[in-house]
Amino acid sequence: MTYRVVQWATGGVGRAAIEGVARHPDLELVACWVHSASKAGRDAGEIAGIGPLGVIATDDPDEVMRVPADCVIYAPLVPDERIVERILRSGRNVVTPVGWVFPDARKSELLLDACREGRSSLHGTGIHPGGITERFPLMVSGLSGAVTSVRAEEFSDIRTYNAPDVVGDIMGFGGTPAEALAGPMAQLLGGGFRQSVRMVLHEMGFRDDAELRTTQEVAVATAPIDSPIGVIQPGLVAARRFRWEAVIDGQVVVAAIVNWLMGEEHLDPAWNFGPAGERFEVEVVGDPPVLVTFKGWQPESVEEGLRRNPGVVATAMHCVNAVPYVCRADPGIRSYLELGLIAGRAAPHLGQH
Ligand SMILES: NC(=O)c1ccc[n+]([C@@H]2O[C@H](COP(=O)([O-])OP(=O)(O)OC[C@H]3O[C@@H](n4cnc5c(N)ncnc54)[C@H](OP(=O)(O)O)[C@@H]3O)[C@@H](O)[C@H]2O)c1
Repeated sequence: MTYRVVQWATGGVGRAAIEGVARHPDLELVACWVHSASKAGRDAGEIAGIGPLGVIATDDPDEVMRVPADCVIYAPLVPDERIVERILRSGRNVVTPVGWVFPDARKSELLLDACREGRSSLHGTGIHPGGITERFPLMVSGLSGAVTSVRAEEFSDIRTYNAPDVVGDIMGFGGTPAEALAGPMAQLLGGGFRQSVRMVLHEMGFRDDAELRTTQEVAVATAPIDSPIGVIQPGLVAARRFRWEAVIDGQVVVAAIVNWLMGEEHLDPAWNFGPAGERFEVEVVGDPPVLVTFKGWQPESVEEGLRRNPGVVATAMHCVNAVPYVCRADPGIRSYLELGLIAGRAAPHLGQH
């Protein structure tokens, strides 16, 4: 069975998703929506840098919606719930890295209704949130008993993330500390991280009086720092740390933490990644305790990351690989708890097709 896929937005994640769809044996790209008019009329494969695929991109949502399809990989800068609702109502499934990892059903009536009408499913995924924060902690916790805490933490050099709009406007780098702390990041991405924390609490059966809290810290540049959003001048934000935590009886029981640094030099406070370097960590404190370190989702160098960031590719591949599972799922908002194991696929020259 081949699933017909639409790529919605062609930023870093969208371009990597096009490449992932093209080499997935069960998927076929059939349409592509782009935000900027300059990309409209171009071949989606050319936009992704992999050569023509015969799919011409358009910036007209109606044109995209006229193409019969099974699933939309929805990866714009910020989500528009009305568009997601329209796609679901039309009978197309949606896989996305921009939210809905584990939404509160009471606040999702419109989307659930769209899923019922379209007999379609919505799945939020990604790397962090959408993988490291909830899927892997839950998986690893299955090998421990009497768990007292779960931690998922990212340590990344954000100079390698070539998405200036996300890094500047959403993540709040390059502004004053006051602007960053009041910016949209805590609300926008925080919504996703809080859902991940809630999913872990829920599935592991922690008490439902857990208090959810968010804390943010910033570090500023002490000298000019080159970055994807231009040079960050001294005194402006060059590193951010967020913690989304669930607390019971004064103890942190679930934590999702990000440490995003524009390199390890010229920061005040002098944050760094420590001897283990850039990484993702998942830790479960129980009987027995376990600590897993994930390497490979951060590039070897800033230059490599700017060309093709493996963390962005991993985000896209988690979306792409989920498509067949989401297309086969019962209608509704479907998290990892319902979809089961999502596996990658063999390289084309080693696969069965
Ligand atoms: N869950 C995770 O682990 C994870 C990881 C990475 C990223 N993300 C999320 O995935 C999304 C895409 O990230 P990215 O790295 O691909 O970012 P990106 O490279 O900056 O791409 C942003 C995309 O959004 C489009 N866009 C810009 N303004 C828009 C608007 N007003 N309305 C609709 N689309 C607009 C851009 O279109 P043009 O290219 O045509 O300008 C581009 O395709 C972001 O929301 C990001 O936060 C999630």
